[in-house]
Amino acid sequence: MCNQTLFCLLLIEILIATDLIVSLTEPNNVCKTFEGYYTNKDCYYNPDQISEVPDIVKRNNYSLEEYEVTTTDGYILKIFRIPNGNPQSEPILLQHAILASSVNFLIIGNHSLGFILANEGYDVWLGNFRGTRYSNRHKYLKETDKKYWNFSFDELGCYDVASTIDFIHKTTNKSTIYIGYSLGAIAGHVYSSLYPDEAANKIKVMISMAPATLIETSQSILRFLRPIWNTLQRLVNAQNHGELFTHNGPLIKYIRSVCFPYPHQLKMCLGFIQLAFGLNEDQINPETLPVTLYHDGDSTSIKTVVHLSQIAASRKFRKFDYGEFINLDIYKSSSPPIYNLTSIKVPNHLIYGKGDFVAGKKAVSDLYHELSKIGRRYGVYAVKHPSFAHTDFIIGKDVKMLVYDHIVEFLKKIRN
Ligand SMILES: *[C@@H]1O[C@H](CO)[C@@H](O)[C@H](O)[C@H]1NC(C)=O
Ligand SMILES: *[C@@H]1O[C@H](CO)[C@@H](O)[C@H](O)[C@H]1NC(C)=O
Ligand SMILES: *[C@@H]1O[C@H](CO)[C@@H](O)[C@H](O)[C@H]1NC(C)=O
Ligand SMILES: *[C@@H]1O[C@H](CO)[C@@H](O)[C@H](O)[C@H]1NC(C)=O
Ligand SMILES: *[C@@H]1O[C@H](CO)[C@@H](O)[C@H](O)[C@H]1NC(C)=O
Repeated sequence: MCNQTLFCLLLIEILIATDLIVSLTEPNNVCKTFEGYYTNKDCYYNPDQISEVPDIVKRNNYSLEEYEVTTTDGYILKIFRIPNGNPQSEPILLQHAILASSVNFLIIGNHSLGFILANEGYDVWLGNFRGTRYSNRHKYLKETDKKYWNFSFDELGCYDVASTIDFIHKTTNKSTIYIGYSLGAIAGHVYSSLYPDEAANKIKVMISMAPATLIETSQSILRFLRPIWNTLQRLVNAQNHGELFTHNGPLIKYIRSVCFPYPHQLKMCLGFIQLAFGLNEDQINPETLPVTLYHDGDSTSIKTVVHLSQIAASRKFRKFDYGEFINLDIYKSSSPPIYNLTSIKVPNHLIYGKGDFVAGKKAVSDLYHELSKIGRRYGVYAVKHPSFAHTDFIIGKDVKMLVYDHIVEFLKKIRN
């Protein structure tokens, strides 16, 4: 995959870097402006870049609890909680996106969604899907077993979300507010369509940020990758037991060495992400980009990505397509069964960005129309920015003002 173009880019990078670097002293890893990275003006050391969730939470002066939950298919998941002393406080579960972990909700200081909700008096829970750095164990499978990685977002919904929600319900005896971002929203929709009554009993409202449930890639560079996913899947299955990006594996190390620490490198790497998920120069934050980008690239299964590409191709929210022959064997029908979005009884609130290349207006409006009257109860909210992109829900400069403050207001409104 690392062909000559990449090599040339790298070479150019090195030339520019050697020319421009003035004096970025070692301890500083973030600067308030892009110029700062060359002049070392307004720069400082942000330890969040290389910290784990517990350290980040403690450094921000919140207490943290850690739990382990074993799913019914044997995966051991880590759940973090920023508890609120008040037993009356409402639980909220934050569920992260693909190639990420719950760290995503905690790395932009006091603008992080996790801390904002804790400040608002909620009992904040942070889920971690199977395969990520925090949830990488299983009762009897090893992380290097092909079977371990034989999952897609189907299992993330029907096992991981189900077990996490159930655990919170048992611990707090309250129904939870569920906030899913991208893949987190998809898994929430899998769970609540497969178990509509149980979900309605345990989840008060489901808020989806950039729900890629009916992922739509006509504007994204991802559409060109569709024909190669099956080949890639065979390759990753053969070479890497089905795991996409190993924790601190050689590929991640390579990407990090290419993407850090200078702005032209950061921007080059961001460029690939932008072609896939939306271009929005306006929301790039020089001060947090090195931290947010660094934490991207947690593990998932190639099967999850292939399943997403199947949804993008069929525009039908349905189970994994193994091909007619195996489908008949597994599902007793030649095409995979749908997840019935209309059967969802949890009320939803859907939030999208106008510049999102995978979960933009069309994807979200299609999703909205599949939901029943109860399911779509809290409607759709378009982020008030002309080109807010998929990744801006986590890395955007003004994400607090544009999205998180809206969520806080929305929750206050429905409480009364
Ligand atoms: C956390 O508390 C310590 C000690 O009171 C204080 O010095 C520090 O600034 C606080 N950190 C944050 C992020 O509020
Ligand atoms: C976040 O922290 C900064 C710097 O410490 C402070 O100026 C700002 O008011 C804080 N914002 C919020 C929303 O607490
Ligand atoms: C993965 O699971 C599917 C469906 O249960 C099965 O057909 C397939 O053989 C499994 N693959 C591996 C590598 O275990
Ligand atoms: C759980 O909540 C229900 C109603 O909200 C209440 O009737 C019940 O007693 C509670 N159970 C426990 C163990 O607190
Ligand atoms: C989906 O669920 C709705 C509501 O429960 C039901 O009316 C409809 O028949 C279901 N559709 C399919 C294809 O099962």
